[in-house]
Amino acid sequence: MGKKISCTGIKPTGTPHIGNYFGAIKPALELTEDYDARYFIADYHALNSIKDPVEIKNSTYEVAATWLACGLDPAKALIYRQSSVQATFELSTLLMAFTPKGLMNRAHAYKAITADNLENNRDADDGVNMGLFTYPILMAADILQFDSDVVPVGKDQAQHLEMTVDIAQNINYNYKKELIKIPQALIRDSVATIPGLDGRKMSKSYNNYIPMFMESNKLRKLIMKIITNSQTVEEPKDPDTCNIFSLFKLFATKTEIATLRNKYLAGGMGWGSAKKELFEVMDRTLSPLRIRYNEIISDKSYIDKILDEGSLKAQEIASQKMNFLRKEIGLG
Ligand code: TRP
Repeated sequence: MGKKISCTGIKPTGTPHIGNYFGAIKPALELTEDYDARYFIADYHALNSIKDPVEIKNSTYEVAATWLACGLDPAKALIYRQSSVQATFELSTLLMAFTPKGLMNRAHAYKAITADNLENNRDADDGVNMGLFTYPILMAADILQFDSDVVPVGKDQAQHLEMTVDIAQNINYNYKKELIKIPQALIRDSVATIPGLDGRKMSKSYNNYIPMFMESNKLRKLIMKIITNSQTVEEPKDPDTCNIFSLFKLFATKTEIATLRNKYLAGGMGWGSAKKELFEVMDRTLSPLRIRYNEIISDKSYIDKILDEGSLKAQEIASQKMNFLRKEIGLG
């Protein structure tokens, strides 16, 4: 029996920070061990908000280079551009006929925008394009075209996955057979456990993040800026409430973690030296990734080649599924 299929979309939003890495990239890449994994860059989803061709193109390259640098092996897993697979958009059109408009009205993202508009005395749909409104339908097509078994996503995407299941069930119910596989969401715990420089959850919107591919010198300076309490060097410190220690645990070995824990508890260690230790383990992990990232991003034709090859394979699978569905529903 073949491996089960996992599928996930990545929005092109430039280079990620280490919260993204541990919260999304690493766990998604770990699935390639046990699953036939398919990753794509959701550039048509991005188009709803990014209208600058240069920005969308560069972000696509950056995101592809990031995943490749972090270990995505194109020989083992599929990576492609969403926009290159025409069958996805045909499936999306098919799914529209099985998607109640009311379902879209209830999407959290859409509701948040309309609520904000109304609060600010604007028309409810101000700034909402149909791509945004129908976002969950295209997302369902991304997933259902592969008969995906699992979809690894963050908590914020849980409702979109429920909608995907709803839409697929509507189709199967109508034709009284399983034309489409019902996928299962693999919801990751939130990345709230990864603290930023100020101790709050690491996030671009708080501007407290540590970029993945920062030069060592800059990384050192940034780590020195981590906010700590005002305990003196002599005082024993609590590792379990410390953001430096939380970050350290992500990068260090078990022995290193135990050693630093003891230094915290013993007292006599200042925040400066804890930060220095953090920098060392972090740079050890991130340096090779940064070097690889810089190599890849400077060779756009290499990225194009990988994405084009992936797109061809994805198009083949998706168009087969579309041919099957077209026949089943009486369209060809
Ligand atoms: N909506 C997802 C996000 O914002 C990206 C995405 C698009 C996706 N299509 C998908 C995720 C299909 C999983 C499966 O992160």
